[in-house]
Amino acid sequence: MASRIVAFRPVVDQEMKDAACRVLDSGHYIRTSPDEASEGKALEEELGAFLAGRDGRRPHVANLSSGTAAMHLAWIAYGVGPGDEVVIPANTFASVAHCVSLVGATPVPVDVEPDTYNIDPAAAAAAITPRTRGIMPVHTAGHPADLDPILELARRHRLVVIEDACQAIGARYKGRAAGTLGDMGCYSFVQNKAMTCAGEGGAVASFDEMRVRRIFNLANHGRGEHYHRGHADEGAPVTHDEIGFNYRQSEILSAVARVQLRRLPGWIEQRRRRAALYRTLIAAHDLPIALPGERPWAYHSYVRFEVRVPNRAALRRYLGRHGIATTVHYPTPIHLDVPYREQLGWREGGLPVTERLAREILTLPLYPQMTEDDVAYVVDHLAAFFRQQASVTA
Ligand SMILES: Cc1ncc(COP(=O)(O)O)c(C=O)c1O
Repeated sequence: MASRIVAFRPVVDQEMKDAACRVLDSGHYIRTSPDEASEGKALEEELGAFLAGRDGRRPHVANLSSGTAAMHLAWIAYGVGPGDEVVIPANTFASVAHCVSLVGATPVPVDVEPDTYNIDPAAAAAAITPRTRGIMPVHTAGHPADLDPILELARRHRLVVIEDACQAIGARYKGRAAGTLGDMGCYSFVQNKAMTCAGEGGAVASFDEMRVRRIFNLANHGRGEHYHRGHADEGAPVTHDEIGFNYRQSEILSAVARVQLRRLPGWIEQRRRRAALYRTLIAAHDLPIALPGERPWAYHSYVRFEVRVPNRAALRRYLGRHGIATTVHYPTPIHLDVPYREQLGWREGGLPVTERLAREILTLPLYPQMTEDDVAYVVDHLAAFFRQQASVTA
């Protein structure tokens, strides 16, 4: 049966289509210098304003081609490299570890909290060694990681904190935007996030203007002042500051992202309403489902509604037969995945909470266009599945 309720669905409206077409018609698709008037530069300014604190301080932003590019360049900008260790949660997306490895450092996966699925600050503290240079708290599914103890740990051991806010644009920790509390935050606008740009996209944000500028330049083939001045001024040498990448964002996608950013607060509110309805209906049915935690200090952006269930494979098949698409994001934790299992010497049982989550977590559909009836339809089928299970075992 074709899915009646898909796993996620980006919102696309006429204004986004017009924005994309405007850039298509302009023939100018790539922003090649940080200061040129462009969709990318406008997006950076708008994102900075969106992420500003109550005191009005705006972080600097570099618009990039993906969240992975953001994390890769963030570690480079802070000089993390060979011989260094970086503490990360084991229950997360592979590129969190890959980016640490790509700069020659060693990722140190640690266990997570069983209900927010985020890095456990006590586990992070226990993993610190004289080689530890950084920590990457990941704000999983839009619920901020508990940053105060992490920041305190970082102060004590002089560590760099790069927040992975790829799933958490618009989420807040104690009133402050996720991604703006550590040294730098990384964001992703890939299609299944709260805001997208119709494809791949990302950004870094930080109050450290020089590092943000360097990241833009690294993403732009290592071109800096000399390169741009040389091109503007015939006769001056055109040189690159350093070896760089092509991690630039397309102007078409940046234009779409600008419209998406304006809609984002409303979409998050809608996600939160649907998540609250899931909670109420699941609780009313008294199902053997563990609901995700939501700390009192968290403004959860609910990019995903992740529950823990018994008998997950059978449940997924049942829901699928009734037109409900579900997802399992991290069936193999970082420490047991092929690139790390041997290299870091992990075995099953090493990180028990993460391993249990890998077996139990199920992402239910959640997106702003879902109606109350859609949520009720999903919960009715969850209830029907567990009724059926109970009758088989009775
Ligand atoms: C937690 C987390 N970190 C990093 C990334 C990487 O972002 P991207 O897919 O834009 O490279 C993602 C996204 O997919 C993610 O969910």
